[in-house]
Amino acid sequence: MDGNKLYIRGPQRIQGELLVQGSKNAALPILAATLLGKGIFILHHCPQISDVEHMLELLIDAGCKVHWEGHMLIIDTRTLQNYRVSGNGAGKMRSTVTLLGSILGRMHKVEIPYPGGCTIGERPINLHLKGLEQLGAVFEYQEHTLCGTVDFLHGAQIYLDFPSVGATENILLAAVLAEGITTIHGAAMEPEIVELVCFLRKMGAHISGEGTPVLLVEGVKKLHAAEYIIPSDRIVAGTYLFGALMTRGEARLLHVPLAHLGTLPELLERMGAVVEAEDDWIYVKMERQCSPIPYLVTAPFPGFPTDLQSALLAALSTASGTSFIEEKIFEERFQIVAELQKMGASIANGDSFALIDGDAKLHGATVEAKELRGGAALIMAALAAEGETCIQGMEYVQRGYEDINKDLLSLGIVIYCT
Ligand code: EPZ
Repeated sequence: MDGNKLYIRGPQRIQGELLVQGSKNAALPILAATLLGKGIFILHHCPQISDVEHMLELLIDAGCKVHWEGHMLIIDTRTLQNYRVSGNGAGKMRSTVTLLGSILGRMHKVEIPYPGGCTIGERPINLHLKGLEQLGAVFEYQEHTLCGTVDFLHGAQIYLDFPSVGATENILLAAVLAEGITTIHGAAMEPEIVELVCFLRKMGAHISGEGTPVLLVEGVKKLHAAEYIIPSDRIVAGTYLFGALMTRGEARLLHVPLAHLGTLPELLERMGAVVEAEDDWIYVKMERQCSPIPYLVTAPFPGFPTDLQSALLAALSTASGTSFIEEKIFEERFQIVAELQKMGASIANGDSFALIDGDAKLHGATVEAKELRGGAALIMAALAAEGETCIQGMEYVQRGYEDINKDLLSLGIVIYCT
């Protein structure tokens, strides 16, 4: 890789075994949750990615001490004293918005740079703020800073209009130290919510209903430190599985909780793959061209995840017929279409749908990653393409992939460097 570019000469087949890195979207809310307890936390299998590094900068800003031992992260929150989250990290990264709930829960005050949108959508936080206000928080905006205070943090009956992952996380993080009972109706059921609840429970929180639309929290006075193993990243795993299908290869992915993959194994079989799986591993083998998928819609868990939509789009561009994908979660998820078209894909799209002709013979090109998941999908497409592809904008991919070169080498891919 030179600078922020990756060069891949295809076609190559994915053939290998990989222990999948820790999950970005499980690690970030768990890092925020550590602020709710006083002590020394140990997090195993934590992904060393730029989004985690940014979050750690903010924890250090807040007064915590942080230390890596390989993939084990040690966080000492006994010296937390600052409720003002600094601008640089937060401004760069949306997912710091989960600091709202945890800092409010611990310090009853919080100031964070207003978390803006990103390339996949406007990313509003109205559901976060409405839920936190029902727990007693009061918010005001000072220029670009969102300021929250709470005199009396109390339980509430909260109804989410949409099962927002981030809003569910923020409300949980504030409710665990609130006085009384909080019920979250219409809660997100993503695996990352289940992991956050399991982590908070290890800290001494009283929560039930994880993985269902109704979460019940009984507030406690104090929470303590805990040790936890971050699960492997289901989206990284799913992306490599689609890469194995596109390259007619085979892959065995280890340490991947099968329960976190939802309906994905069944979809891979519908596309023509041989799929074997048990609790914490999945194996796929593809010996022919992918079958098309006449209609698929992205949806909250256990539906097909929006974060895998780009990788599916790339795979279906090589399928033996026409496919149709409807994107119902984010309004800007099809930026990758123009890049795949440079590689020979035949796709027509509107804001919320893509019609994929299939049967594309992908060829190398210079393409641009505009966001994390689209960038990873372009890398999978480059493996299947004839000739050399240069993927620019690799800084986006590094937000979620610890070492994609190492992963691809484990999966039998030769990275062609200039
Ligand atoms: C989380 O984002 C993930 N990020 C996203 O992954 C993932 O795509 C998304 O959940 C859906 O699964 C992290 O976990 C850090 P949402 P989040 O709140 O919490 C609307 C990646 O690449 N909405 O469930 O922001 C929103 O506009 C990232 O790893 C409101 O309208 O997702 C969107 O249309 C991308 N008001 C929908 O809900 C709100 O207050 C889904 O958002 C909140 C959300």
